Amino acid sequence: MDIKAYLNKKKTVVDRALESLVPAADTVPSTVFEAMRYSLFAGGKRVRPILAIASAEALGANTAGLLPLAASLELIHTYSLIHDDLPAMDNDDFRRGRPTCHKVYGEAMAILAGDGLLNLAFEVLSDPKRTKTLPPARLVAITREIARASGCFGMVGGQVVDMESEGKEIDFPTLEYIHTHKTGALIRASVRVGALYGRASEKRLKQLTRYGEFVGLAFQIADDILDITGTQEEIGKDVGSDLRKGKKTFPAFYGLEESRRRAHEVSDKAVAALEGFDRKADPLRDLARYIVTRVN
Ligand code: IPE
Ligand code: IPE
Ligand code: MG
Ligand code: MG
Ligand code: MG
Repeated sequence: MDIKAYLNKKKTVVDRALESLVPAADTVPSTVFEAMRYSLFAGGKRVRPILAIASAEALGANTAGLLPLAASLELIHTYSLIHDDLPAMDNDDFRRGRPTCHKVYGEAMAILAGDGLLNLAFEVLSDPKRTKTLPPARLVAITREIARASGCFGMVGGQVVDMESEGKEIDFPTLEYIHTHKTGALIRASVRVGALYGRASEKRLKQLTRYGEFVGLAFQIADDILDITGTQEEIGKDVGSDLRKGKKTFPAFYGLEESRRRAHEVSDKAVAALEGFDRKADPLRDLARYIVTRVN
């Protein structure tokens, strides 16, 4: 299958869902909505919502009712990027091909835009008008999945250890903790949201969870590699940022070549986790391969 065409098609669908969820830029208090929209519609790949959709499709589910849930993953991801770029964190100037949110709107407004996106995600998830096709118990399970993966047991926890490890000697289990939490947790949750929505059997849910864990780790190894090998035009963000900050990355541990080998090995494991799924899981298989060969 043509994964580029698949990604483009789904990105259009996700962007339309996002547009319907985020208030217009002139809504009061307009500065914060402007800043939220500035970062959200700067052109992200929408990998997390697309993983949720592909996961539900792999189970043969109709994904119309999944779109608000999938979009909420992107709201949370974008908030995490705005905060990740702040001077107190990675102190980066470019994101998604434009100056970072705080460079344009100032630090206070960037913090608040992040807060706004995070809370909007949970407003969407708890909005009966947007989630009416889902039985309440399933919606609560999905909401908890997203909350836990975004918080201190997931993304926030990974960011804490990432910050505390700057310029320090750490062991490999700590590096793996950083990657599987700061990036892996929300990616794993994205796949599981699609699986829960699509009423996966226990066996299928286990398989999709493993797939999500491998894809999450592979995604961050690839991100570390692109920080060194990418160009600012390609990746749309600062290059060499990790080295400057003394970040703990796979290339810092193993060098580029071994990191590439490991990224491919982890991506192969993701594909292998889907054994027994039919052709409807091909987008998931191709997404796992795309994630380690991408140039942005
Ligand atoms: C970048 O995420 C930050 C990480 C968690 C590695 P993406 O590479 O998905 O960034 P966008 O959403 O496409 O901008
Ligand atoms: C970020 O990891 C993970 C997030 C939770 C945003 P990075 O700090 O490596 O992401 P980039 O390279 O700035 O996108
Ligand atoms: Mg960071
Ligand atoms: Mg960063
Ligand atoms: Mg990075």
